[in-house]
Amino acid sequence: MALLRRASIPAILLPRHPSIALRASSWWSNVELGPPDPILGVTEAFKRDEHPKKMNLGVGAYRDDAGRPYVLPSVKKAEAAMMAKNLDKEYLGIAGLAEFARASAQLAFGADSSVFRDGRSTTVQSISGTGALRIGAAFLARFHKASNAVYLPKPSWGNHTPIMRDAGLNLQAYRYYDPSTCGFDCAGALEDIAKMPEKSILLLHACAHNPTGVDPRPEQWKEICQIAKKRQLFVFFDMAYQGFASGDSDRDAWAVRHFVENGHNVALCQSYAKNMGLYGERVGAFSMVCADPDETKRVESQLKILIRPMYSNPPVHGARIASMILTTPELRQQWLVELKGMADRIIGMREELVQNLQKEGSSRNWKHITEQIGMFCFTGLKPDQVGRIIKDFSIYMTSDGRISVAGVSSNNVAYLAHGIHEVTK
Ligand code: LMR
Repeated sequence: MALLRRASIPAILLPRHPSIALRASSWWSNVELGPPDPILGVTEAFKRDEHPKKMNLGVGAYRDDAGRPYVLPSVKKAEAAMMAKNLDKEYLGIAGLAEFARASAQLAFGADSSVFRDGRSTTVQSISGTGALRIGAAFLARFHKASNAVYLPKPSWGNHTPIMRDAGLNLQAYRYYDPSTCGFDCAGALEDIAKMPEKSILLLHACAHNPTGVDPRPEQWKEICQIAKKRQLFVFFDMAYQGFASGDSDRDAWAVRHFVENGHNVALCQSYAKNMGLYGERVGAFSMVCADPDETKRVESQLKILIRPMYSNPPVHGARIASMILTTPELRQQWLVELKGMADRIIGMREELVQNLQKEGSSRNWKHITEQIGMFCFTGLKPDQVGRIIKDFSIYMTSDGRISVAGVSSNNVAYLAHGIHEVTK
């Protein structure tokens, strides 16, 4: 019918683009074009580049020495064993896979931690570390009535700010990184922490600080722990890199365990993106250490009430993989060896980068490259030098000069050193 009617109208009277005439007017003229994400936007720019030697040192994602994404053999084994079980795809509960949550909390706090004996901790599965932070921030915004101020180290992971802000927390910062030494500004951090209003929320990176790769030493952690106790601060740990800093998951959890043993009832976010290479599976956990079993039960009930309208319940596949690895002794042993292998390759690349910078003839002091730990190195490159290394060498990194050392390999370390030397000499 419509076709017939149209055919009978003289062509001159028809709109040139009929679909435009029928289209509703815009609802979103007020929506401004937003900037690309400071970290994930780097990958987008890298993908558009056609330079044969281009390097993506932006996002923190481990690569093997041939520059390829790495699926851990322990993960492949766990997946094969799962396939053989022919498991169903039913919904998980709101709090996720219980065996995974238990094993994850034990990995962080230590299997013999008193929080388990005393029934003082609750753990829910989360959508990786970001999801854990989001749950924690939402819980604090709703229930931490004493203060909504959250103090982030300066600098902190780029996503911490929008996560905390979107949850409605009031963002503050404390000194952390000293650009003159490319190391930890211990005096500045302690001074700022000592001045925080009581009951504020103190966010700490448990290990392998992102973006600086600079961690406090144990005696410095002890001081932070004491001052935070004195100021009655609520400690919120983000542990996205357990095992990736030293290659030893117990050693990397030292600060978290020390705070808990010294009477801090902390919140803790965990991610299995890096240490199990489960990036796209989005596996993580959020834990809260409470005063007693009754408080634990109440907190757990409210965590579920927060999660249900956010995403109902978490995905099952990745949590099963992580759970199987953590709870099967041989697989767990294999995973720990693979984890150490990844950490060691990164440490080796740090050394090779410094050697290659020396070969290039750089007279600068690059010792921070080997002193910093974990996936990232805060090179000290200034934004204009970052702009040049991207433009002239197609070596991509975040504008703060952070590089993911996990993206460096034997094949491209010399090229990276060359690029860094050219823009810093
Ligand atoms: C990073 O800092 O590169 C990683 O934590 C990945 C991300 O989501 O930003």
